[in-house]
Amino acid sequence: MLKRTHTCDKLRLDDAGKNVHLAGWVHSYRDHGNLVFIDLRDRNGITQVVFDPENHPEAHKLARTARCEWVIAVSGTVRPRSDGMANPKLATGDIEVAAEEVEILNTAQTPPFEIDSADKTGEELRLKYRYVDMRRPEVLEKLRVRHRVTKITRDYFDLLGFWEIETPMLAKSTPEGARDFLVPSRLSPNCFYALPQSPQLFKQILMVGSVDRYFQIVRCFRDEDPRADRQAEFTQIDVELSFVDSNDVIGVHENLIASIWQKIHNINVTLPMRRMSYHQAMDEYGTDRPDLRFGMKLVDISDLAKESTFKVFTSVVANGGVVKGLCAPGGAKYSRSDIEKTLTNFVNDYGAKGLAWFKVKDQDGKAKLTSNIAKFFSDKQQEEIIRRFDAKDSDLLLFVADKLTAANKALAPLRCRLGRELQLYDPDSFEFVWVVDFPLFEYNEDEKRYDSLHHPFTAPVPEDIEKLDSDPGNIRSQAYDLVVNGYEIGGGSIRIHKPELQSRIFNILNITKEQAEKQFGFFLKALEYGAPPHGGLAFGLDRIIMLLTRTDNIRDVIAFPKTQRGQCLLSDAPSEVDAKQLDELNLRMQKHLHQLERTKEEIL
Ligand code: AMO
Ligand code: AMP
Repeated sequence: MLKRTHTCDKLRLDDAGKNVHLAGWVHSYRDHGNLVFIDLRDRNGITQVVFDPENHPEAHKLARTARCEWVIAVSGTVRPRSDGMANPKLATGDIEVAAEEVEILNTAQTPPFEIDSADKTGEELRLKYRYVDMRRPEVLEKLRVRHRVTKITRDYFDLLGFWEIETPMLAKSTPEGARDFLVPSRLSPNCFYALPQSPQLFKQILMVGSVDRYFQIVRCFRDEDPRADRQAEFTQIDVELSFVDSNDVIGVHENLIASIWQKIHNINVTLPMRRMSYHQAMDEYGTDRPDLRFGMKLVDISDLAKESTFKVFTSVVANGGVVKGLCAPGGAKYSRSDIEKTLTNFVNDYGAKGLAWFKVKDQDGKAKLTSNIAKFFSDKQQEEIIRRFDAKDSDLLLFVADKLTAANKALAPLRCRLGRELQLYDPDSFEFVWVVDFPLFEYNEDEKRYDSLHHPFTAPVPEDIEKLDSDPGNIRSQAYDLVVNGYEIGGGSIRIHKPELQSRIFNILNITKEQAEKQFGFFLKALEYGAPPHGGLAFGLDRIIMLLTRTDNIRDVIAFPKTQRGQCLLSDAPSEVDAKQLDELNLRMQKHLHQLERTKEEIL
């Protein structure tokens, strides 16, 4: 085989006259009868190769047989393209290689879609033929950025004295709150491993083991329904440190993020990053992951609404609900049907029962409200609404009346949609915020008990510990989430390192001594053998890459992702297994059980 001297992105005018060997895929192929042109592509770029029957008839003859995506090696001489033929869109666009020899390294089936028009091809087909899809520069670029980020991360932590340590994949179930993937054990019949939802307990135990500074780029598994920013199998940059407080942990991690953004995008992130309390985020943005690239804060007008004569509002407030809304600048351009159909359906999908609206219009130099429900509000009430939102001509006010959590749940995505549609921010910008002062517990109405907002190992703020028995709902935790453009890219906390406090927390969470012992007895025991104060964080690597490569589809940043239904279309996983494999694992398929039952009936 002709050995490569250059990759397909390298050659320039300066190389004219050089004899070179290139190898790659036939990206495109033009047979002008006389001359044959092949654009030769590898992961780095494209070089034009010309085959001339006069000078090298053998090479020309062979080149004529080549087809798209065949793999070939070429040797020839670099020369400037003839006048007017330069292609400014290609890095190698000033030159071409006049081929002297060609070797067909492999033929290929006609690809299921053209590489150049893959973005118009359905995702399912692209994922099935991911190896073809992957040849596109956009996909390769994402894989390259992902590699760069993991390399920057490893170098960063290495310099600071962190050790990368692997933790078990076949593990015991950890309580991150999602469903576990289970793996049956052959050697211990009827017992199962759980694939780790995160290395949480093991990394804490590493601290007990005096490791002091740990990190790991690690796969985590959560059997949840995949979403645009969620996969069942995803990667964390997982970190834990000893003898630190929240500010230390936040400092180490925001410096890593700044370093990544600097090295990948040459963007200087302002440090320290801003912080916002959980309560402020919920009040003003309706979510604990606010997109701060634009304003449009939510405002509660329950006090005004209850004085109006609009029944929907007065009854909701009388029943303990709220009327909360936002002012979309320039939003009056939405037609009444846009609002009452499209936007209302949108909030309905998030559980809201309706969407009340007012358009703001200047009349005689004064902002006035127009709407189907304006008649239920006195002039004074209308003026006060305008004042609260600082509303201007052509703005659109939108309100949801409901229980506070339900109103927030619908308004937060509505705000993001309007921000995007009204182009209220530069889509290339990044806004970072640490959300802090989370409540330790949140009340679970359905089950009438408290749940951890993060996980049960999160430490409370020391001065709030006294409220543990009297007022658990009002205890703040030492937890922090890093949010970028509305994505939660990481979260962590200072941990509980005293077994007594850990037991009290389990108590409040209704986890009995026996359950705690069974699920994480090994961990509680470790806390009794000299656990240092410690804390840490985990970033979602996939989400970081999504932001850096500006995609809102997590599958774009994973080499071999799974679909919304959890399938790998390339390898066809999950799939059925042999009966023999099941036997070895002491497992029976329900289907087989049904069959057995039926056969039994038939025999009887
Ligand atoms: P948490 O559950 O918040 O914390 O996860 C940390 C980060 O991982 C990312 N992430 C995901 N990314 C893609 N798909 C998913 N299904 C998914 N789930 C989570 C998010 C999230 O911020 N052990 C703790 C961390 C700690 O306390 O140190 C943990 O796992 O970006
Ligand atoms: P109705 O009285 O049901 O015809 O509703 C009148 C207007 O109030 C419509 O624009 C509805 O979308 C809106 N609306 C109804 N319920 C709510 C609610 N819970 N929150 C906000 N607006 C609502």
